[in-house]
Amino acid sequence: MSRKFAKSSSILLDDNPLWYRDAVIYEVHVRAFHDGNGDGIGDFQGLSEKLDYLQDLGVTALWLLPFYVSPLKDDGYDIADYTQIHPDYGTLHDFRLFLRAAHERGIRVITELVINHTSDQHPWFLRARDAKPGTSARNFYVWSDTQERYPEARIIFKDFEPSNWSWDPMAKAYYWHRFYSHQPDLNFDNPEVHKAIFDALDFWLDMGVDGLRLDAVPYLYEREGTNCENLAETHAFLKKLRQHVDSKYKNRMLLAEANQWPEDAVAYFGDGDECHMAFHFPVMPRLFMSLYMEDRFPIIDILDQTPAIPESSQWALFLRNHDELTLEMVTDEDRDYMYKVYASDPRARINLGIRRRLAPLLATNRRRVELLNSLLFSLPGTPVIYYGDEIGMGDNIYLGDRNGVRTPMQWSADRNAGFSRTNPQRLYLPVIIDPEHHYETVNVDAQQQNPASLLWWMKRLVLLRKNYQAFGRGTIEFLLPDNRKVLVFVRRLSDEIILVVANLSRFVNYVELDLSAYKGMVPVELFGHTRFPSMS
Ligand code: NOJ
Repeated sequence: MSRKFAKSSSILLDDNPLWYRDAVIYEVHVRAFHDGNGDGIGDFQGLSEKLDYLQDLGVTALWLLPFYVSPLKDDGYDIADYTQIHPDYGTLHDFRLFLRAAHERGIRVITELVINHTSDQHPWFLRARDAKPGTSARNFYVWSDTQERYPEARIIFKDFEPSNWSWDPMAKAYYWHRFYSHQPDLNFDNPEVHKAIFDALDFWLDMGVDGLRLDAVPYLYEREGTNCENLAETHAFLKKLRQHVDSKYKNRMLLAEANQWPEDAVAYFGDGDECHMAFHFPVMPRLFMSLYMEDRFPIIDILDQTPAIPESSQWALFLRNHDELTLEMVTDEDRDYMYKVYASDPRARINLGIRRRLAPLLATNRRRVELLNSLLFSLPGTPVIYYGDEIGMGDNIYLGDRNGVRTPMQWSADRNAGFSRTNPQRLYLPVIIDPEHHYETVNVDAQQQNPASLLWWMKRLVLLRKNYQAFGRGTIEFLLPDNRKVLVFVRRLSDEIILVVANLSRFVNYVELDLSAYKGMVPVELFGHTRFPSMS
């Protein structure tokens, strides 16, 4: 029954194996978007009710944060059951209805495959800690009698965890974890683990999910004498995973979350036989640096350091997401600079990053928000918008962990920002009432009624992007005029030639461009379709 349902839902989409290269992705947490049943927590019913909004915005794919059964100690990245929906968010039936409704609108759905670790409440871990050492059940996870193994592996959640090992009194052994201590790492040296993961993957792909984001994918294996990241064994596993997907399914996509330097990140594409997409982490902080420094160098420099990628592969670009603005892929000096100019309040910092949303980071400067979004939409890759950033939502750095950037979506000036009918005290997190970003002024309703709003500007940007395949598939060539405050590049796909000129300065600048290669052509400004004099 469920299979039939899924099949009919997937055929609503065009048959396009490279859909992700032309996509505009919208990242959203079910719990934060809209509350359909009035319990103060967003759910699939609520998300389905807002699909018209997302279609109107023009996005072509949704990336959903984990919505599985979980103690929610890491907002769902601590999974206790890979194939059940957390009751707060609804039922599998609700999910299927949502998936079908999204597909009917031509919107694809990307979900999370968190395979590096589970929750310590997952039955696999409960079984492992009771099992005899040496058994397969025990070896679902990585155990040790000492904390001395793999000393070169860094600690990622350095504000919270002193070690990658924690003692389990039941097992009377230490277990390995790259994130919170309640998230034991699965042991990929155990073939039974591969099988269990493939079963979970099949469950969602059979249902019709279009893509999977592979969370924390560099850390699957551990080997002595290494930093336990990007190991050859991890890439071998990914090739096997890709083969499995290709042999059973059409038009699906794997997206690697590998917070790595460009040369390590490209490895996740393999020879076009690992992940289809990978986030480009290092380019993100450099967009912010270039803007503050009013200098194109950081952007050009990191893209120069980025190797070419296989034909079918694609970078995923983003400005902000549900985590801190990570500063792992910058030098110590650049990190100090970023903290100084973007997070002078120590409360805005967490681990190695900044827990702020886009608008507050840019001092709510509309022109800067537009500039960074324009770059997000025109540099090589597929843009990912973080929910709420299309209306310039604010944040709350006084909430714990990364919750300050995960507050309810602001729909209107009504109670609870139109997110939920519940008692405001029952909301999963409070709505934003900071004077500058108060939900009474920053909300979808108000902006829909104002064609000059950021929301309308974003809608036009999304549409513009979708009209030209050169943005998603074209080559890039930088022009290097004398004035370094201006970033200039040409995106090209056969006869589609797009010149992008970005003034990074707060002030008006002039720049002389050598466009002799385009002599005789008539430039057309893309936002207004204004024709310029032909180039001489
Ligand atoms: C990366 C996710 O983006 C983050 O939110 C999570 O805490 C870690 N992986 C651990 O799963």
